[in-house]
Amino acid sequence: MTTRYSFLFTLMVIACLTALAQTTMCTTRQGDTTIITIEQPLRYLLLPIEEAAGEARVLLDTQQKDDTWMDIRLARKKTDYYVPFALGKERSVTIRVLGLPHDALTLKDGQLALTDHWNPINTDYYRPVYHHTPSYGWMNDANGMVYKDGEYHLYYQYNPYGSIWGNMHWGHAVSKDLCHWEELPTAICRDTLGHIFSGSSVVDKNNTAGYGPNAIIALYTSASSRNGQVQCMAYSTDNGRTFTKYEGNPVLRPFDGLRDFRDPKVFWYEPKACWFMIVSADKEIRFYTSTNLKNWKYLSSFGKGYGAQPCQYECPDFVELAVKGQPDIKKYVMLMNVNPGGPFGGSATEYFVGDFDGTNFHVTDDPHVAKWLDYGKDHYATVCFSNTGERVIALPWMSNWQYANITPTRQHRGANGLPRELSLYLKDRHYYVSADVAPEIRLLRKECHTLPDAVIAGESRYTDATADYQGSFELEADITPHKNKVAGLELYNDLGERCLIYLDLKAGQAVMDRTESGITEFGHRAGIHPAELITDKDGKQRPKHLDYDIKYINEFAMTTWAPLRLCEGKTFHLDIFVDKCSVELFIDHGRIAMTNLIFPTQPYRHVRLYTSDHDEAQFKNIRIYHLSL
Ligand code: FRU
Repeated sequence: MTTRYSFLFTLMVIACLTALAQTTMCTTRQGDTTIITIEQPLRYLLLPIEEAAGEARVLLDTQQKDDTWMDIRLARKKTDYYVPFALGKERSVTIRVLGLPHDALTLKDGQLALTDHWNPINTDYYRPVYHHTPSYGWMNDANGMVYKDGEYHLYYQYNPYGSIWGNMHWGHAVSKDLCHWEELPTAICRDTLGHIFSGSSVVDKNNTAGYGPNAIIALYTSASSRNGQVQCMAYSTDNGRTFTKYEGNPVLRPFDGLRDFRDPKVFWYEPKACWFMIVSADKEIRFYTSTNLKNWKYLSSFGKGYGAQPCQYECPDFVELAVKGQPDIKKYVMLMNVNPGGPFGGSATEYFVGDFDGTNFHVTDDPHVAKWLDYGKDHYATVCFSNTGERVIALPWMSNWQYANITPTRQHRGANGLPRELSLYLKDRHYYVSADVAPEIRLLRKECHTLPDAVIAGESRYTDATADYQGSFELEADITPHKNKVAGLELYNDLGERCLIYLDLKAGQAVMDRTESGITEFGHRAGIHPAELITDKDGKQRPKHLDYDIKYINEFAMTTWAPLRLCEGKTFHLDIFVDKCSVELFIDHGRIAMTNLIFPTQPYRHVRLYTSDHDEAQFKNIRIYHLSL
């Protein structure tokens, strides 16, 4: 260290010690409650977290009726990581802790620390390079996304107090280009009405709600066991940075006392010059209208018994899409996220195409046939940005509720998929949605490595083809398989961990196989394989055979596939994005999208191109780009 730096370092240490010297922290117990009082606090108390521990309840006690308890897995035996607990600006603060045994590690000397600077250092090997993640804590659904004044606002379901679902807040990040995300302070915090569940935001251009033209208005679900699920509103007059909750909340309750009533999506419907809201109401979607975003009137319901059954709908969205290249042909599309009910178990996004008459949505195809927006296992809660004009940009959360809470990361858990541009295409007289990666993502392309065009019969290995890219790259290729045969590629590392992506023309499938992709054990659970289940008359699932065996199945180590008939021609364009712990495949510009998590213990650095049975297939235009911010 140079003399100058060592001098600065000494000054910093003295400053910290001085601050600490003025601060006192004292812990006492009253019955079941631990009371921590801090005089002259710094900004944060660092809480040690043990993921396997039961939840304790923690309250920053300001003696106000809005004081909200948080559920936090405070360390009892060991510390997995720390989270910051904000202390406010008072000179003296009291924190109450309930449900923590007196001998818990958290309460031992030196376990609780104070700091002014919470700066999480990335300790997660699997943190993506170019996908959005929070810097720490748990994230599920991207929600409330809105574009305004050159910024894309991404709000998301966020637990700042641990890397497991709980304490739902709306986290916040902004981007000017959908690639580089800046993390901002939490936008909407859990409160006494409950968790802040998913919802949506709009720009109120005409000041219909009375908070000024162009205020951002957020509608979200407040959820608690006491109040159930009700819809609430909050407004922001500082470009989405901070929100004030509407004093008249909730603005909408279920008329029939339904327990699952959530995830409001609001949009302006010009033909009627009013706001519409769709809400998922267990197994159907309900439409409501309003002129001021506060008073809502029930209009109609949609979707009971449709698509994949049995299912529960969550996070619906309703968008008007044009046929690619034919902007005058438009249809309405209802995106519904279902959990369970996905084609490979657990969570997935299905959609319906049809016409909207201002009251009812009519599906133009057979509504009992599910169409999937993505054929992977880790694509959920997908909704679109509002206020993006003719463009429709969707963003999926990249996980599956079957194992989302136990994937092998620590400091953060949860990432969003790449933003996708939605459009329609017509195939065999049916409309489908294509979900192609947003063109902005090309901004991330750095060095490019080209593999030679080749006719391959058997296999060709390209050792170290992606070695310099450290698990963060895009691979594009045009593949023409032999009629009725298999042609594909394998991404692999020196440990034999691999992900296979292939086109099986005999089966008519595009396949991604992650059975040997790396860490997969966390996907094990006792259960019945989905193929062993049937659905009875009441829509309940039960085993086909009475003498079924409960066996261990792995929900993660599996193969996902999409029907190739959705594509055209005999040459397929593949665009594959790998980012530390995910693979996203787009075929023929989004006609097929497939998103899967992977946890290789070393980055995949080699590529193998192969065909089945020594049949010839043509591989052309193979480019591998290093992607970085
Ligand atoms: C979907 C979901 C939503 C709910 C949110 C809670 O993943 O279950 O229905 O609002 O997550 O975090």
